[in-house]
Parts: sequence; structure tokens; C-alpha cells
Amino acid sequence: MQIESDQNNNKNNNKYISHEEMERQREFIEKIRLRLEANRENIVSDQAGAKPKAFVETYGCQQNESDSEKIKGMLWDMGYDFCDKPDGADLVLYNTCAVRENAELRVFGNIGALKHKKRKNPNMIICVCGCMMQQEHIANTIKQKYKHVDLVFGTHALYRFPELLYEVMKNERVFDTKNEDGSIFEEISFKREKPPLAKIPIMYGCNNFCTYCIVPYVRGRERSRSAENIMKDVREVAEAGYKEVMLLGQNVNSYALDLLKDERGDETVLSFPQLLREVCKIDGIERVRFMTSHPKDISDELIDAIAEEPKICNQLHLPVQCGSDRVLKLMNRRYTTEKYLEIIKKVKERIPDITLTTDIIVGFPGETNEDFERTLDILKEVEYDTIFSFIYSKRVGTPAASMPQSLTDEEIHANFDRMLAVQNEISKRKNEARLGRVEKVLVEGVSKTDPNTLTGRNEGGKVVNFAGDKSLICEFVDVKITKAQTWSLFGEIVK
Ligand code: SAH
Ligand code: SF4
Ligand code: F3S
Repeated sequence: MQIESDQNNNKNNNKYISHEEMERQREFIEKIRLRLEANRENIVSDQAGAKPKAFVETYGCQQNESDSEKIKGMLWDMGYDFCDKPDGADLVLYNTCAVRENAELRVFGNIGALKHKKRKNPNMIICVCGCMMQQEHIANTIKQKYKHVDLVFGTHALYRFPELLYEVMKNERVFDTKNEDGSIFEEISFKREKPPLAKIPIMYGCNNFCTYCIVPYVRGRERSRSAENIMKDVREVAEAGYKEVMLLGQNVNSYALDLLKDERGDETVLSFPQLLREVCKIDGIERVRFMTSHPKDISDELIDAIAEEPKICNQLHLPVQCGSDRVLKLMNRRYTTEKYLEIIKKVKERIPDITLTTDIIVGFPGETNEDFERTLDILKEVEYDTIFSFIYSKRVGTPAASMPQSLTDEEIHANFDRMLAVQNEISKRKNEARLGRVEKVLVEGVSKTDPNTLTGRNEGGKVVNFAGDKSLICEFVDVKITKAQTWSLFGEIVK
């Protein structure tokens, strides 16, 4: 496997892809556009003369969703329009996630299912990219066993997508999974989801090497975007009518640490809390959220910013992973439960109405039933609103992959179910505490299950459903909570 294991690699990886290189990629975009225009009658699916259609599906985290918005920006500039299923698409692209095995299995399943679609439509171009493809053993499997896939590229090659796609159009299969750690490219516009929510990456990669996690290997080292470029995006989305921004990074609390190490002339470097406060100054943006915070780096300055700035949502996602100090050490998380609980105490004191969420891994190698009980203790003590819980999944090339398991699969699953039961009770109780309250909800859209129901989120990020007219989408409404379930709230608009 082609992975970097040098954790102490301090060399300056903060590389912007040069303007010249991005100009070169622009030329490929233009070449593809002309080619597609000249071949309108050959498009797979639609009526002659229509735009060719691309189907883009994204797995994994918001970072990947944001990358897909860049890919869609490139496809749009090439002249593609988008469709919502692979059937009849001229181009299918899967942007994949490697964080757990089940995410990978789904991708293989979906790629497999394209085989007969491509037989029917030989002109269909199939592309697979993202975190999973940055792993050599996976790319090799696709090369050998999924011959109908035309293009495979890893996260580091994202900016080269136009060039790679152009090669494919000349009838070549292309594989580009080179490990070119550290690239940021700015000169392509995002093709975003519709308002009101905009995802804005502030940094890429991760330096933490938690022993279970593949992310640092497939995403490279931390590199931060300049505050100037981030603010430019925020201004742009505000002008386009977006009301809420989500600032993204694997560990936003180390935002800009790499920029400080670099000497980059007159560029202003802001810390993460300073950046948040700058974003709040932009008119039109009413809510600011961020993901994810690592407990080892959380600062009082950040807690103050959340407490003081009305636009920063009273919400914190602070992954604890487990409640046993022994296991936290094996995980290389670099905090103790005592330190973690201190942070939580401070947060609750400063921001009484905070909505707290976390990530938990059950069945990390070496975890005993005794360790697992400590995780339940943490859940009961913190009383998170929601948890995102995962059964440990072995990842090739990570240190934990060679650590022995103490528990059987049955024991791990039983623990997992027990944990869900404990948490569901807490989540329900916390939601019930909101009954009768009037909450400010940003309306995101119409419910998937009921066309007469609108859905949005309260400040804490909880889903709230209520009856209302479509014209309210993108608006803030006051909703009185009338029903509370484990996963969502229901209410009615108060005039
Ligand atoms: N950077 C973020 C999260 C990235 S991955 C952070 O550190 O919080 C999201 C979550 O997936 C992690 O918090 C962890 O709980 C889970 N995860 C990562 N690797 C995993 C693995 N090998 N098995 C199971 N869960 C995993
Ligand atoms: Fe993975 Fe840890 Fe980095 Fe999060 S902080 S992405 S869990 S290595
Ligand atoms: Fe998955 Fe890559 Fe995100 S591995 S969780 S898509 S950074």
C-alpha cells in the first residue's frame, strides 16, 4: 500500500496549485466543452441537442460533499447538466469514503451494478474518486476486477480531473492515485446545493493519526486555506442568498497552525476563533456552524466565541470516541476523560443552551467490557443530544489494524445495542425538554415523506418538522415544539 507513515513530517506541505497549472486545467475544461458540443447527437440518454447529463454520488463526510461541489463546478463548466440517477447518465461519478468497511462495500456494490448499464450505453463514462481511491490496493482491485470503470483518481488528483477526463475521452482507461500530499486549488467555482446552507472548507487533511483512522493517509497533512479566500467564499454565498455556513475541517481547532509556520509575506493569519468572528460580520449570513473539533485542541477563545457571537450556533460536536483512558491512549487521542469532562463542564457553564453531540467507536482492539462501561458512564454524565456511533472497522495500513481484539463480534454487537438503548433514552428526554418552547428554525425544504410538511433545523442543529408553505424555504420561522421523538422534533408555526 502506498501510504505515508512518517508522522513527524514537518516539511512545508502548504502548496497552492499554481495559477499556471489551473490555467492548464481550464484549457482541458474548454476542450471537453467543445468536444461535447460537437457530439451532441451522441449523448447517451436524452433528446438530441440536450446537454449531456452527469450523475454524481457522494459517500462519507461533509469534506467529501464539498469536494463533490468542486467536481460539479468543473462538470458544469464543461457543459454537463446533472441528473439524479445513474440510469441514462452520460457520466457517472462516485466520490468515495474509506473510513469504514461498510462504506467501501457499498461503493463496490454500486460500481458492480453499473456494468450492465454500461453494456447498454457503451458511451457512458464511469469515474470513481475520493478517499477510497487514494489507497493503492483498492485502485488495483478496480483496475483488475471492474474493467468497465474508465477513470480512477485519488483525493490528491482532484484538481487534475479535467485533464484526466479528457484522456478518458480519447479512449483510455486512466488511473491516477499518486500520493502528492498537500494541494489546495482555488480557481474553480463550487456548484453548491441550493440555499440556505453552504459548506465552506477551511482546511484539508489531518495530522492526528488516531490509530484506527484512515483519513490522514488518504487526505494528507493539514493545510489551511487563507482567511482571504475563505472570506471571499462567505461573501459570495451571502450574496447568493445563503443564510447559514458550515466551516469544514477534520480538526478546525488547528486551523492556520500550518500558515503560521510558513512565512507568507503580508498574508493575515487568523486563528479559528478569529476567523469565526470575521465570518459573523458578513451581512446576510445569520448562522455559523463548524465541524469537527478535536478535544485536545479546543481553546477557551473558541468557547468564548460561541458564547458571545449570536450568529455562532450554540452547538458543539466534540468526538470523545470512548470513555476509557486506557483505550483513548491506544487510540492516540491525546486527552484523558478527565480533561474531556473539564471542557464539557466549561462549555455547559458558558453556554447553558448548548446542543452537544459526539462520535463513539465500540469494539476498538483491546477494549474490554470494563472499558465499555466507562463509555456508558460518559454518555450518562455528558447527556449528549445525539451520538454518532460506529463499530470499529479495521483499516489496512493503520496501527490499530495489527492490535489484537479482546472481545468477540457478538460481545461487541451486544455492547453496541446496549449503548444505543442508553443513548436513545437520553436523546428522547433531551428532546422532550424542548416541548412547549418556541424555536427559531431555518427552513431547508419540504419533507421527503410528506409534501405538506416543511423541515428545517433549530439553532442546535436538530431537525424540526412542521406544516407550512413552500414559500418559507430559506426563511427563519418561529416554531412551537409540540411533539418530541428520539431523532427529531415536531411543531407548529407561531404567527
Ligand atoms: N476528524 C473527525 C472525524 C473523522 S471520521 C474527528 O476526529 O472527529 C468520523 C468518525 O468516524 C470518527 O470520529 C470516528 O468515530 C469514526 N471512525 C473513524 N475511523 C473509524 C474506524 N476505523 N472504525 C470505526 N469508526 C471509525
Ligand atoms: Fe481521523 Fe483522528 Fe484525524 Fe479525526 S482527528 S480524521 S479521527 S485521525
Ligand atoms: Fe470518509 Fe474521506 Fe471523509 S475517508 S469520512 S470521506 S475524509
